Order: sequence, then structure tokens, then C-alpha cells
Amino acid sequence: MANIAAMSQLSLLVLSCCVQGCGGSCPTLECWFVREKPGEGLKHERSLLHIRTSTNSQSEEKPSFSSSSSDVTPDRVYHVTDSSSSLCHPSLHPPQGSLIKPQCELHPFLPQPADVQWAASLTDSALSPTHLQADWLSAAILGLNGELALSTVARAATATSQSNVVLSVLSKTVSVRSRLGDAVLMDCQFWVDPSSPLSASGFAVEWRYQFRGEGRVVLAYDGKTDRLADAQQEGAALDFASLHASGNASLILQEAKAHHSGTYICAVHLPYLLAQVSVKLEVVEPPSLSISPSPLPLAVPGQALSVQCEASGFAPLPLELSWEFRSADGATKALGEGSLSGHREAWDGTYTQSSRLELDTSALGRGGELVCVARHDGGTRRSRVALEVIGFSTNSMAMVGMALVLYGIIQLAFWNIAVFKPKPCYRILNVHKMAAQQHY
Ligand SMILES: *[C@@H]1O[C@H](CO)[C@@H](O)[C@H](O)[C@H]1NC(C)=O
Repeated sequence: MANIAAMSQLSLLVLSCCVQGCGGSCPTLECWFVREKPGEGLKHERSLLHIRTSTNSQSEEKPSFSSSSSDVTPDRVYHVTDSSSSLCHPSLHPPQGSLIKPQCELHPFLPQPADVQWAASLTDSALSPTHLQADWLSAAILGLNGELALSTVARAATATSQSNVVLSVLSKTVSVRSRLGDAVLMDCQFWVDPSSPLSASGFAVEWRYQFRGEGRVVLAYDGKTDRLADAQQEGAALDFASLHASGNASLILQEAKAHHSGTYICAVHLPYLLAQVSVKLEVVEPPSLSISPSPLPLAVPGQALSVQCEASGFAPLPLELSWEFRSADGATKALGEGSLSGHREAWDGTYTQSSRLELDTSALGRGGELVCVARHDGGTRRSRVALEVIGFSTNSMAMVGMALVLYGIIQLAFWNIAVFKPKPCYRILNVHKMAAQQHY
């Protein structure tokens, strides 16, 4: 039994190896072909992308999904050769029957000179326009589980359905989370078909930032003239050796700041071509908590106690503040959120918010621990302070009473000694002492 299982696992392994690598083909992708139709807006049509990794291999005609492909019209069936194999990435090909699917959109692509100044040098010498006269297609694909974002531009000789990927840009860090102050790496790799006449004409890389409608250039580099654009964000860098050697256009932010959160777009220009992927960065920092006053003053049952908990240095909003009371025997009681202040933004983009609790000590027994709880995207933080209530239970009443009585007796005894101090008594004592010393 175990042997059969092992055998079938092995054959599966061999099969998947062939699918991913050795046979030069990988499963078909289901995509939406999206185009602008005059008067109709965006039109979505079902389409299929058959993929192979070299021109002399067969692509698998069977779609990786069992869903019917009969409603795909023949002119929306594409055959793409991708020598970089990025279209074969496992995250684009879920197991058969999987409900979650990669997102794939195809668009007609129109080659044109870039409209940004750092890519202008790419098209200053006229390039063979005959090469551009073809059917160009771009694909934007998002893999499963945020493992991959891929954008490719493929060319098909006019009126053929066989196209070749010319430019591919991908990121394996679709979503990045960072603590404040840490170094951040946003992955972006590009690949250019070495057999394309466009491959020898240089490239340009541009990282743009977008957040809530605000956009700016983080860094732009003209790879042809080896020049960086002036508009460069402080602390942002590329690894130029790796960029020229292997198309590694990853963006490095030396120190994550709260206002770095947002979407970063890695755009790679070839002459007349452009492909881009986006990476989302979240700078997440949980708050530091402080309770005041600390330590808390001793409380008498029924006495109202005002306590404040301040959460600072956190990002982004929101934050949930609440209070708990943990009695000496370990039982926890929720005390609500107290009265919350509004949040204040500090110079570094982090936030501060506080909660004031008016504590009624009558229901808290002899005391325990007062806990301020802050729930945040970056984690839950707790701060504790000891709370002591001086009890008036029957037991302690008796003890206090006894202490008072004892105190009274001692006071009385002292007073007596002080008033009726008989002088001879000392003398007698001294004589006795002397006698005792003589005995030795
Ligand atoms: C790209 O360059 C960065 C910075 O040097 C490096 O950390 C990263 O590992 C490189 N990525 C690849 C895939 O080589």
C-alpha cells in the first residue's frame, strides 16, 4: 500500500516537473480580454492563454481549470511563447478544481515612445518601425496568495496567433509589511527577450508612489545613459550592479517611515514598450503604552480614581484602547474603553491617542492589577499597574481595632514610665550590675 502511494506520488512529481520545466510548456491561463470600445466603455471577453517556454515545444491545450472553455471565441485564444518561464510560475497555476484563481487581464498594446524624460533617450534614434508593426498584447496577472504580480508585453507577427513575450516585469513581494525604521526591499525583476531587436537599445526604470490620489516619482533611472533623475526620494536606492547584470530593479528604502505606506509602481521602459507592476507597502508599528499616575495611589473603597493610558508612536490608525481589571485571584474583568481622546499625529507620521478611566474602586475588592489594552494591526500591547484598595472587611476591621488597642497600651506604658521614674531604682540596678561583674 505504502509503495503504491509512494509510486503515485513520484509519478505526480515527475509529471508536475514536466509540466513546469522539462517539457517547456505549462497549463493554460484563463484571462479576461479587456478593451475600450467606443461608445460602450470597457468590454470584457473571456480568453485563453496557451503558454510554452520555447518555440519547439507544444503548449498544453487543456485549460488548467475544468470550467467550460467553449464560450471562448477562437480569436480570443492566444498562444504565447515565454522564454523567461515567468508565466509558468506555480502561483499562476492552482491545482485542478481550486476555487481561487489567479487574476489575469489581457489588453491590446500600442507601442509608443515614453512620455517621461528619463526614458526619452531610448527612442532618440529611430528604431526599425517594421518590428513595431505587429499585434502587441499585454497581460497583467496576479498570482495566488499574493505571491506574484506579473506584467508582460508580447508580440505576434500581424494576423498570426503565435506571440512571443518581449518584456516581462514581475514582483514577488506584492504586499510588504515593515516595522518603523526597518530597511524595506520591494522586489521588481524584469526580463527582455534577448532575440528581440529592442533588447540592445537600453531600458529605463521608474518607481512611482501613490497614496490616496497623491502621486510622485520615488526614483527614476535611465539605464541607457546611466543617469538618475533629480527627483529622488531620500533613502531610496537601486542596486545598479544587480540591475544591469540581471534586471533586478528592486527598490530599497533604507528606513521605513510611517508616511511611506502606499502603493509603489515599478515601471520598466524599453523603446516604445512599457510594463509595470505594483507593490503595496504597509508600515505598521504598534503603540507604546504608558499609564499615569504610576504607581497608583492607595485607594479606599468607593473612592473614584482617575487613570490615564497614553498610546503613542503607532501607525497606521485605527487603534482600539480598553481597560481590564485583574483581581488577585487571576479573574479578569473588562472595564470598557474609558473616555477616548482624539488622535494626534506626530511629526514622524505616527499617532498618539489616550483613554481616561474614572475607576470606581468599590467593586474591586482588595485590588489587583489595572491593565490598559491596545489592539492594533501591528499587535496587541498591554501595560499594567498595581492597584491596592485598603479594605474595610470585618476581618481587617478587627485587625485595625486590635492595632489601635495595642498602640494605646504602649502609649500608656510609656507615659507611666516617663512620669513616675523612681531614681533609686536605677541605683539599685547599677549595684546589682556591679555585683554581677564582681562575681566574674
Ligand atoms: C535584488 O537586489 C536586492 C538588493 O541588492 C537584493 O537584496 C535581492 O536579493 C535581489 N533580488 C534578486 C532576485 O536577485
